[in-house]
Amino acid sequence: MRLRFLVGVLLLACHLASATAHDAIRVSDPDRAAYRAPCDVVYMSGLLLVANSKSGTISILDAESAARCSEWKVAESLVAMQRCGRWLLALDPVTHQLIVIGLDAEGRTLHVQQRLALPRYPQNLAVDSASGQVAVASLWSRTVTFCTLSEAGRLMIRTRTSMPFAPGRLLFTDSDRLVVADNFGGEICVLQSDSGQICRTVEIDGHNIRGLAVNPKTSSLMVTCQTLDSRSFSTYEHVFWGVLMQNGLHSIPLVRLEAADDARDSDPESLKKTETATYGATSVSREPSKSVGAHSQYPLGTPSIGSGDPGAMVVTSHDATLLVISGTNQLAFRTASHLPFERLKTGRRPEAICLDENEDVAFVANRFEDSITVISLTGNSPEVIRTFSLGSMRQLTTEEQGEQLFYDATVSLDGWYSCHSCHTDGHTNGRLADTFGDESKGAPKKVTSLLGTADTAPWAWNGSRESVEDQVRTSLIISMQTQVSTEQLPIEPLAAFVRSLPPAPSVLEATEQLVTDPTLTQARHEFVRAGCSNCHAGNAYTTHDSVDVGLVDEIGSTHFNPPSLRGVSQRGPWFHDGRATTLQEVLRSGHHAPESPLTPEQVSLLELLLKSL
Ligand code: HEC
Ligand code: HEC
Repeated sequence: MRLRFLVGVLLLACHLASATAHDAIRVSDPDRAAYRAPCDVVYMSGLLLVANSKSGTISILDAESAARCSEWKVAESLVAMQRCGRWLLALDPVTHQLIVIGLDAEGRTLHVQQRLALPRYPQNLAVDSASGQVAVASLWSRTVTFCTLSEAGRLMIRTRTSMPFAPGRLLFTDSDRLVVADNFGGEICVLQSDSGQICRTVEIDGHNIRGLAVNPKTSSLMVTCQTLDSRSFSTYEHVFWGVLMQNGLHSIPLVRLEAADDARDSDPESLKKTETATYGATSVSREPSKSVGAHSQYPLGTPSIGSGDPGAMVVTSHDATLLVISGTNQLAFRTASHLPFERLKTGRRPEAICLDENEDVAFVANRFEDSITVISLTGNSPEVIRTFSLGSMRQLTTEEQGEQLFYDATVSLDGWYSCHSCHTDGHTNGRLADTFGDESKGAPKKVTSLLGTADTAPWAWNGSRESVEDQVRTSLIISMQTQVSTEQLPIEPLAAFVRSLPPAPSVLEATEQLVTDPTLTQARHEFVRAGCSNCHAGNAYTTHDSVDVGLVDEIGSTHFNPPSLRGVSQRGPWFHDGRATTLQEVLRSGHHAPESPLTPEQVSLLELLLKSL
């Protein structure tokens, strides 16, 4: 009893210690060469605050003079930062914390007010300053957490919502509603902010949603994303005309996101069918759709002017829209909703954008160049007025060079898309693509997740590639239709980056339910007993040969390489053609032994196991 009490006190002490753990530490030599990789930028009373993802630091700059004031280490790594009243909120994806940060009156020093533990793998946050509400999307644990921030800078968790997908971008459309987008595919959920309940789900004709904004003039939700046509294939013509991959700005009237009982919208499929425009080569229009009340799509790219990986966006109160095109190092802008987009050049991989308080200036954070592009909005047309450096950059490793190429749309023909456009953040956009992995067309394949791929030789669904290098060469020449000459293909850095990607954490691991449950032990036995481990063997749960498990593709191929099962719970739909939309469907399909279907008990044990790998 006494011992238990002591342990309790000790645990509490540890908890308190970690809750108030280290304050912000001033970087003593801000001129040191580093690789900061800024991911977010916030404007606050004459200052620019920049969250640096790789260094886990926040840089403070004078917004007017570009002078670097100081740099503060606040985390292992950062993924996002927002302002809420006089506080800064930043997310650390390594310690899974939301950090509340305060600035002194002159904005010269930072201090950490609170570190709040969150569901694992926090990825993004949204703030409603008026009500002090904060919402955080946790990627692999598929959770949205609602908090309230008090005047005094204390966060309190209000409620949590389990999401049907791995959430990425999110935005309060007003104090009552939060819009949450799938980080990989094209689903969007609307959540009630008081209860956290999902009241509406909309599927847009796209994936890789990277920008969300409300246009107050048109009362619509704007969404930047990409659309991959699975019926098309990666030939020069199809890429050139933007048929294989389009990059678009979608606009959904806010009223359409309101009522769950609105019969017109209750079926996302019908929304998709009736309201998605085609992006055919000849039907590409420079004008946005005129239809009022309908979901419209505005194609951002035109032949020979690709627009790979459109991203973050802001809409001013005067109806101007500014959005970054992360893959082509540009900013697209229009000064009114009815006008076409024009472009400006930014630094390498613009990822975040913010405005000053009067909407006179926009600041763009360039992730791969450690810089901020400053754009004046006061003239007839936006123009770049200067570029701030966040400090000198160190030499990049081969892997880091590979990462930059992986996210670079200029590697593809005319800049239409990057590797990340299909293998979103190294994972999968969940779509099918016909990239001739099997040397013939007409049999599109599910885009494979590259997370943990290093240990899964051979590569491609049919196991035809013996090395990652081999696959990357094909990806560059065929999937990307790259115009880089064969001798200069950047195979080595890309392969090094791909190899460095760790497997996705399983759903059970991410939600911290991976206990030493006797059921899990039983499930492991069942995996062996049912013969799964004959093909899904070893640490990576795969084997070298390609086998016939009773699935035939459109061109009659029957032999496929057993996919690795690590992180398998995070990457539906499953099978080479995405025919199974749940893991239960995979198990019930009896693809390994149709003559002896698994019993319901076996199915539930194996499903548990798959969610733990
Ligand atoms: C248009 C979408 C698309 C683009 C762009 C794309 N890929 Fe792929 N990738 C696929 C598909 C689909 C497959 C599976 C092909 C198959 O097996 O038939 C694949 C397979 C792979 C694999 C094999 C993975 C495994 O586990 O078998 C690697 C590695 C890979 N791609 C790397 C890259 C790299 C690097 C780039 C950029 C240079 C890239 N891909 C661009 C769609 C794409
Ligand atoms: C004879 C070899 C073999 C056996 C035995 C086998 N599998 Fe598979 N498995 C495969 C192959 C090959 C595929 C890919 C088939 C396709 O997509 O066309 C696959 C696909 C899968 C997938 C989908 C993976 C993805 O990323 O789409 C899961 C999950 C899976 N198997 C689980 C199991 C389980 C659980 C068992 C035991 C009940 C099992 N497998 C037995 C060969 C096998």
